[in-house]
Amino acid sequence: MSAAAPAAAPAAAPAQQQPAFRRVFGFIGGAVAKVVSTTFIVLVVALVARHVPDDKNTIAKTHSPEVVLARMLARFEAGSVIPRFEKYHVSRPDAIAMLQKVLRPARLKDYTVVIGEVGCGKTTAVHNAIRANSTGIVYHIVKSEVLVSMPGLLARSLAFEPNQFTEGYLKDRGVELDEVTSAAEPFRSWVLLSLILRDVAQQFKTKHGHPATLVIDAVDEIAQQGPALLHAIQDFAKAAADEQLLNVVLVTCDGSNLPELKASSAMTRARIAEVSDITDEQAVDFLLHRGVNEDAAKRAVAEIAGGRFVLLNSLVFELQFKTVDQIFLKFHIGTRGALRRLFGDLAQISPPVSSTFCRLCRGAQHVDDVEEALGLDLTKKLLATHINILAYHPNDTYTLHSRHVQRSSRFGVLRCVSAYVMI
Ligand SMILES: Nc1ncnc2c1ncn2[C@@H]1O[C@H](COP(=O)(O)OP(=O)(O)O)[C@@H](O)[C@H]1O
Ligand SMILES: *[C@@H]1O[C@H](CO)[C@@H](O)[C@H](O)[C@H]1NC(C)=O
Ligand SMILES: *[C@@H]1O[C@H](CO)[C@@H](O)[C@H](O)[C@H]1NC(C)=O
Ligand SMILES: [Mg+2]
Repeated sequence: MSAAAPAAAPAAAPAQQQPAFRRVFGFIGGAVAKVVSTTFIVLVVALVARHVPDDKNTIAKTHSPEVVLARMLARFEAGSVIPRFEKYHVSRPDAIAMLQKVLRPARLKDYTVVIGEVGCGKTTAVHNAIRANSTGIVYHIVKSEVLVSMPGLLARSLAFEPNQFTEGYLKDRGVELDEVTSAAEPFRSWVLLSLILRDVAQQFKTKHGHPATLVIDAVDEIAQQGPALLHAIQDFAKAAADEQLLNVVLVTCDGSNLPELKASSAMTRARIAEVSDITDEQAVDFLLHRGVNEDAAKRAVAEIAGGRFVLLNSLVFELQFKTVDQIFLKFHIGTRGALRRLFGDLAQISPPVSSTFCRLCRGAQHVDDVEEALGLDLTKKLLATHINILAYHPNDTYTLHSRHVQRSSRFGVLRCVSAYVMI
């Protein structure tokens, strides 16, 4: 089992390093001592740097651990630059206010997992919440990069460039690095980054009196390629919250990866915040602003999109040359196909499964009831993002994934209206 080895390494390493950190922090003691010693080291480096030849001078200026850490600290202090939103914008004051509390908690107790369906507007809302004042906040979004390059790209967002002195710096701080350096990528890079991040987070807190915030958006991209790295990041987030060191906010679409997140014991420490869809009225308004006529807008929202941005955006485009019925039919065929692949003959769906679907058509159902009736395995399959039949909500309920799935199930696929009475 070659897969087990890298998974084991990151779990073991931080646990062993914690006592070392405590010893070091305890030994230096006190906020003032830390600031003074850091300043002193920077001064010494600067003085020494003036008396060595030019190339070494440059290396000391750009590569010394103190300079490398200072760059990451400066990145936190300046905050990430969030691009402006170009298109017509639906204002979501409640979601933004909720996220701003998550980004700047009055007291750091937990790390936060922000969830919401694909395309419900999480990234946009998080951007808006940060843009108002990004001081102390670094934002990083995971793209569909291969797993091994994830820590490197995160490091870039943090303005962290590891170099030949990084490991020596950590060893001098009393960190036992043997397990880290022998771990496979991406864990090796992640653990090195996380160790430096802890130091910088401590410096930020000492200097500003409150913890900095690190947002990692789209962590579902990590989970899709194997949960071990995500679990390592969650363990870090939990430890950082326990020690009130750094406010870590993970953003994810739920569904397929929530079971993965839950599988981590660190999940028990997470506070879950949901970004939900906008209201039907806001959605109709959005379509009107984007040039859709009122009749089509109302029907398209009621029957297909609800308040889901990703669907609304595609409707703006498709309604130019298709009717609401034609667009619905395409979604309906997709849903029916997905269910057929899962169940085989839809007429053979067992009564408990069928009645569960029908109850879901009428509204949110408690997770326990759904999982009991469908079984864990089927529930997980229906949650998967490429199937998108079920949606999880942090108030411990499931709903059908979107308005068109609801409508497909009710009238087309399962004929809930009559079937429910028959069962
Ligand atoms: N408040 C908003 N007003 C207008 N369009 C929005 C808004 N929020 C999101 N969108 C649009 O909806 C789409 C999905 O949004 P995004 O933030 O990427 O969702 P998520 O991160 O949840 O997948 C994007 O095209 C975005 O431009
Ligand atoms: C931004 O937030 C920081 C830290 O919370 C605060 O000190 C600063 O005054 C805020 N800046 C603005 C312009 O509101
Ligand atoms: C739970 O959340 C979902 C989605 O936001 C909502 O539709 C449902 O009414 C909520 N259920 C309860 C019991 O609060
Ligand atoms: Mg997003």
